[in-house]
Amino acid sequence: MQTADSKTIETIEAQNKAPRGIRDILPEESWKWAYVLSVTAQTMADFGYSEVYLPIFEHTELFSRGVGDATDIVEKEMYTFVDRGGRSVTLRPEATAGMVRAALEHGLCEQNMSSKLWCWGPMFRYERPQKGRYRQFYQFDAECLGLAGPVADVEIIALSAEIFRRLGLRNLEVVANSVGCPKCRPQYRKVLVDYFTSKKSSLCETCLGRLDRNPLRVLDCKVPECSAVADSAPAIYEHLCDECAAHFEEVKAGLARLNFPYKLDKRLVRGLDYYTKTAYEILSGELGAQNAVCGGGRYDNLAESIGGPHLPGVGFAAGFDRVVLVMEQQGNSFGERPRTEVYVAAQDEAARGAVQILTHKLRREGISAEQDAGDALRGARSFKAQMKSANKIGAAWTCIVGADELAKGSVTVKNMTTGEQNLVAEEEVANYIRRHEARLI
Ligand code: HAM
Repeated sequence: MQTADSKTIETIEAQNKAPRGIRDILPEESWKWAYVLSVTAQTMADFGYSEVYLPIFEHTELFSRGVGDATDIVEKEMYTFVDRGGRSVTLRPEATAGMVRAALEHGLCEQNMSSKLWCWGPMFRYERPQKGRYRQFYQFDAECLGLAGPVADVEIIALSAEIFRRLGLRNLEVVANSVGCPKCRPQYRKVLVDYFTSKKSSLCETCLGRLDRNPLRVLDCKVPECSAVADSAPAIYEHLCDECAAHFEEVKAGLARLNFPYKLDKRLVRGLDYYTKTAYEILSGELGAQNAVCGGGRYDNLAESIGGPHLPGVGFAAGFDRVVLVMEQQGNSFGERPRTEVYVAAQDEAARGAVQILTHKLRREGISAEQDAGDALRGARSFKAQMKSANKIGAAWTCIVGADELAKGSVTVKNMTTGEQNLVAEEEVANYIRRHEARLI
């Protein structure tokens, strides 16, 4: 039995840890994220996408109507709570519904205008945590709103693949399918239900439940018996209406025109209900079970399902956490880790004030600089300890101020790579460092 004391200790321990499936991105990793984000932002701009900042939570109804009541996300994975005003709100499990809501609210696509928008940030899903799967995870997301033609679908697929190309991701596989539209899907659904009903004895409990509510999801069940049945199921792209079939042909032709390798996957249905026509994913062999680095597709009826006018759209979202994971596993470059350029050290107590002034001056000049700000236990640190710090943080330069330097209004500037040191007038230090850095490049 637990005593009151052990319970208290458990509570305190729990309070000192992030909740399960939630993690901190610490400095060791955050600079890599900054690199991925900068490459993403540049690629988005090259493809004509503008960044927007969307709210982290929305009315619950946006997701139940937009993403779909019968999806796993809405049924079991949302972080939903009642706010102090009695409204049901939900931490966004994805960004597409919010993006469409924002475009409608602000009239971004009125009078036949189209909008190419992107965003990034945390999403929340109560899933079972494992490698590459978290309860708070990050996505970058692009949505092309107001364009119905297949060129937009090809552009979206090309945009996601271009971001990954620039990041150096290798061994990726693009898989694509068409999931039809409300005109052709009911017919396919019937064919599919008939097929799965004839194989009922091989289906898992979950799939038997899905047979009524969402039979397309049986296609991507991972249970081996269901998977074997699904492998022989009729393909949706053989049951498309003329419009969806022509659209899919054009998407495939566009991908071929760009020399874009992809694989047709008749079992790709995606876990969100808003898709029409094109659906695709980009998979990495590096990730194990959670192998999708990105997923997306067309959603021509999403705007109407949340109470708006007809507004076609196509987009994708990539898992930021997973992209970083794959890059680390493949040993890809994240550019250079930003480091402190200059450490300013005081040789004795009398120099501390001058060190403070010089550090501030360098920072104002855009040169990153660090100084000894005193240690919590021991207060100001010795000159030797300061030089140790300069080495530890990998500073390229150390500026040393002592009695001699103070008397001459100068600073000893030491190149930490070559060991060379020079006496430089205090007001010239920033220029001196910049001149030498330029020569080093
Ligand atoms: P999704 O397939 O649910 O699509 O998510 C897109 C990507 O987010 C996944 O491929 C994966 O990389 C990442 N992801 C999803 N869940 C997790 C998780 N629990 N932990 C880590 N990463 C995760 C969507 O969200 C759609 N809104 C995509 C879209 C945009 N469709 C049209 N426009």
